[in-house]
Amino acid sequence: MAFNNIIMRAAITCVAGYVPDDLLTNADLAEMVDTNDEWIKSRTGISQRHILKDPTKATSDMGAEAVKTLCEKRGIDPSEIDVIITATVTPDMLFPSTANLIAHKVGATKAWGFDLSAACSGFLFALTTGSQFIQNGTYKKVVVVGADKMSTIVDYTDRTTCVLFGDGAGAVLLEASEDEENGIVDHIHYCDGEGANYLRQAGGGSLNPASHETVDKKMHFLYQDGKPVFKAAVTGMADVSYEIMERNGLTGNDVAWLVPHQANLRIIDATQRRMGIDKDKVMINIQDYGNTTAATIPLCLRDWETKLNKGDNLILAAFGGGFTWGSIYLKWAYDTKS
Ligand code: UT7
Repeated sequence: MAFNNIIMRAAITCVAGYVPDDLLTNADLAEMVDTNDEWIKSRTGISQRHILKDPTKATSDMGAEAVKTLCEKRGIDPSEIDVIITATVTPDMLFPSTANLIAHKVGATKAWGFDLSAACSGFLFALTTGSQFIQNGTYKKVVVVGADKMSTIVDYTDRTTCVLFGDGAGAVLLEASEDEENGIVDHIHYCDGEGANYLRQAGGGSLNPASHETVDKKMHFLYQDGKPVFKAAVTGMADVSYEIMERNGLTGNDVAWLVPHQANLRIIDATQRRMGIDKDKVMINIQDYGNTTAATIPLCLRDWETKLNKGDNLILAAFGGGFTWGSIYLKWAYDTKS
């Protein structure tokens, strides 16, 4: 349902991101498992990933770097932040929340915060959640973070998953839009728990608390049955992107940019074709970062920020573990050029 009772529209007014310096290239992986650069590039589009090697640093450290940069860019003090929502499936610990730790690390002394778990759709779910606080007038400054240290749950002996993921963080600031036109216009979100059969991290929760057995069975690593996930992702991400265009009366020509979750270049291509938009309107940086789970979409926004114009129609789309999927339609609210 489109937002009908909006007091004001929530707009992204600043974006920032952080990726660690260390790289894990396809050549590196070929020395660790039976794979090669040609297979990885042609099946996924990935050339390298950034990895947070320092064992004393975690997801909150990457998130905090992104939020610090965000505040500097926007010229605000972290104490002005009202809420921090962090989308992640690799929290530093089960509690306190990663958002809580980020707030502490950046000096967001007046903020409250919480984590949101929706895997690769986490950033979109968090963006919709955060936008409610702006739209209903409760808060002035909401920070939405997508951050994952995927290298801590990837099994680097499993060639079918270890080539896919990287570490990183992105953050956006949500504020009331300066005008009625721009900001977040609409969202569509779905989830289907049947997807847990195909993509999950089963160990460490209340169903399978940590034990020697869960460790022996590698249940603390991400498990993915790639083919069914691929099939569901191609359909889910393409359909939901088309659905949000249709109900907002948008054609391919009206869309300035598709901002897709970066899981596999072939999934992104299928979405672009279904939407009927040109290839050069699609943000793609999967070759440099791999799948950073909750961080892919804000990292795209960071990397393309200078190309975005006020009023541009953006479709954000994601599909991920759970299953979870969704899309957001927003009109970009600022020019970096001006
Ligand atoms: O973001 C969260 C959602 N996740 C996704 O959207 C990921 C969805 N899934 C995928 O992206 C793809 O299924 C993968 C990239 C994981 C796999 O690509 P695929 O084209 O579905 O490959 P496949 O699983 O059908 O495997 C084809 C072959 C198999 O060999 P055989 O059985 O045909 O002899 C695999 O064993 O490729 C083999 N293979 C590899 N070969 C070299 C699988 N992984 C590798 C590898 N290097 N890393």
